[in-house]
Formats: sequence, structure tokens, C-alpha cells
Amino acid sequence: MKLQAPPLSLYIHIPWCVRKCPYCDFNSHAGQPDEEAYVEALIADLAADTGDVSNRPVGSIFFGGGTPSLFSSAAISRILVAVREQLQLADDVEITLEANPGTADAGHFAGYRAAGVNRLSIGVQSFDDTMLQRLGRIHTASEAREAFQIARAAGFDNINLDLMYGLPGQAPGMAIDDLRQAIALRPEHLSWYQLTLEPNTAFHATPPPAIPDDDMLGLLQHGEYGVLSTVDGNGQPYGVPLNYVLMNNGIYFHCALEGHKLDNLAANPLVSFCVVGRTNVLPAEFSTEFESVIVFGRASVIDGEERYQALTGLVDKYSPEFVAEGSAYIEKFDSQTRVVRVTIEKMTGKAKFS
Ligand SMILES: C[S@@+](CC[C@H](N)C(=O)[O-])C[C@H]1O[C@@H](n2cnc3c(N)ncnc32)[C@H](O)[C@@H]1O
Ligand code: SF4
Repeated sequence: MKLQAPPLSLYIHIPWCVRKCPYCDFNSHAGQPDEEAYVEALIADLAADTGDVSNRPVGSIFFGGGTPSLFSSAAISRILVAVREQLQLADDVEITLEANPGTADAGHFAGYRAAGVNRLSIGVQSFDDTMLQRLGRIHTASEAREAFQIARAAGFDNINLDLMYGLPGQAPGMAIDDLRQAIALRPEHLSWYQLTLEPNTAFHATPPPAIPDDDMLGLLQHGEYGVLSTVDGNGQPYGVPLNYVLMNNGIYFHCALEGHKLDNLAANPLVSFCVVGRTNVLPAEFSTEFESVIVFGRASVIDGEERYQALTGLVDKYSPEFVAEGSAYIEKFDSQTRVVRVTIEKMTGKAKFS
């Protein structure tokens, strides 16, 4: 029996970026690379290391960063020519290159494809421009979409998109919406990373406010009631406790056809909604701990299928043992009930409890 040498994977690092993102702990540095000198050094490094493994086929090559798409296609091509000279590549070798949408260029992408790169990994992170700004990204959502189309036009039929979630001020529905928008582009692969605050990053030194954490979302999802705060046309505030359900990036509640709440919302749809979980009085510290979430959002009266789903969601949350009776109840009081959705625009709170 002839033994097959195990295949190799080759990772090639390009450690430069246009700008350093505040959350990133990769070996990446803002600045202009000396492309030629680096390519020479890489090729020499490869030659120094391939002695023992030159009989093993290479199954995959990954150009990671940093931002490899900062490099010219001529430089990537030179590296790949040197790799082919020194190693044998598998017939179906996968060659990936990481691209930042802020550096997408039709000429570069076509050149990478011609050099043998057959997969692009595009760092989209989010399709929400506010999130992209908070992440210190150098591109907009529409530039990210454009980068994807440029990649397709350049002949890439294997594309990965990187997305991140748990971003500062990002409500759960916003993260799901990012996923939907990514799926709508029909990439071959999606990577979905939870933002982590890595040591030695700007975000670690000064954490951005309002990073949603799982505890906070759990509190919002399972809280028994919340206090809705509105103001009327004269600026008179009004806070009222309500039961509610969290669905599709919205807080839903029902009420009578007329009343103080609806009058205020008609005058000013901007609201805040606060849910308090456990509390713990700390007498010796003259303080009290709260587990709480505050949502900022915009309210609107809803109708149709969304309204029905919200009423069913309330029954599922508060009366799970009485779902059949709940349906009859919804039908009976249908004409006497309004349903309001508060679209979550921002969320803050603290759910860590000693
Ligand atoms: C080397 S970067 C990708 C390519 C390119 N530099 C870019 O950012 O567009 C790899 C991916 O790791 C993810 N990432 C980086 N830092 C992260 C962090 N602190 N938490 C979660 N994901 C992170 C991002 O999705 C990023 O696209
Ligand atoms: S996330 Fe990407 S673009 Fe931003 S600093 Fe890290 S490697 Fe560079």
C-alpha cells in the first residue's frame, strides 16, 4: 500500500491596513506597505521552510490580514508563482484572499482572479452605516454591497462575507437584519462573529457604551412588565407599566382604542421603555444594584398580520398553557384593541449583578 502524504494548508499574512479598527487585535498596522520588499521576504521565508514538505500537496492557501486587498494583483501573482515553484498544489486547491470593501477595485479583483485566487472573503461587518462608523470602518454599507458585485463581475463564484454582531447600540433585530441582507446577496459562505473586546485594543481600553450582552437581551425578552415613558404635546411626561412582548427588533403592547398613551404617542412617537429585573439593596454601601434595560425607540400603531402576530406573541409569553383560549380571547376583543410597536433604535442597561 502506498502511503499518501497529508495535504498542507498555507497561510500568508499581509499585516497592513488603511486604518486600524478599534476592536481588532490581529497583527495589522495602519500604513503603506513596501510591497516589493515584503514579497521578497515572504518568498525567501517560504524557500527556507519548504525543504521537508515539498512532497506534500497544498490543499488551501489563505491570504489573511491585515488587508491583503491593499496589495497589487502583480504582487499576489508573484507570491503565487513562487509558491507553485516551491510546492505542488492540489488540483482543486482553494486560494482565498481577504478584502476590505474600502479597498475594493475592479482591476485589482480581476487581477487576483487571473493570478489564481478563486475565493474572496469580504469584511462587511454590518449593513448599517451607524454601526460601521462606531466600528471605525473605512467603508459604507453600499460600498460593501458594491465590493460584492465587483467580486462577482471579476469572476469570483466563491465568496465569503464576514459579519459581526453584538455591536455598540445594536438591537438583536438589527443583527438579524444584517444577516438577512447578507443572505440576500447569495454569498457561498457567511462568517458571523460576536464582537469581542480583545486585550490591547482601543475598545478594550475604553469600551464603547451600550454593548448588548446576552443577559441584557434575556432580561428584555423575559421581563414581566416594563415602564413606557412618553411625553404629551406640552412636554408633560407620563410613565406607565405595561406587559409586552419582544419580537423582530420591536417591543409590542396592546391597549384600549383611546387613552392617555395613544394621545401622547400621536403628539410625539419617541419613547423610552424600561425593564427592571432583580434588585439588591446594599445597605452598607448606601446603594442599590439594579438589573435593568432601557430601550429608546419610536412607537407606531400597527395593523394586519404583524398586529395578529404581536397579540399571539403576548399570549405565548404570558399564557403559554392557554394558547387555544388565547386565540378566542384575541378574536373576541379584536375590535376593542389597539396594538403598538416600539421599534428599538438604541438600547442600554446593566445586567451584571454581584
Ligand atoms: C483579518 S479581519 C478581515 C479582513 C479585513 N481586514 C477587514 O477587516 O475587512 C478578519 C475578520 O475578523 C473579524 N474580527 C476582527 N476582530 C474582531 C473582534 N474583536 N471581534 C469579533 N470579530 C472580529 C471581522 O469580521 C473581520 O472581518
Ligand atoms: S478588522 Fe481588518 S481592516 Fe480592521 S484593523 Fe483588523 S485587519 Fe485591519
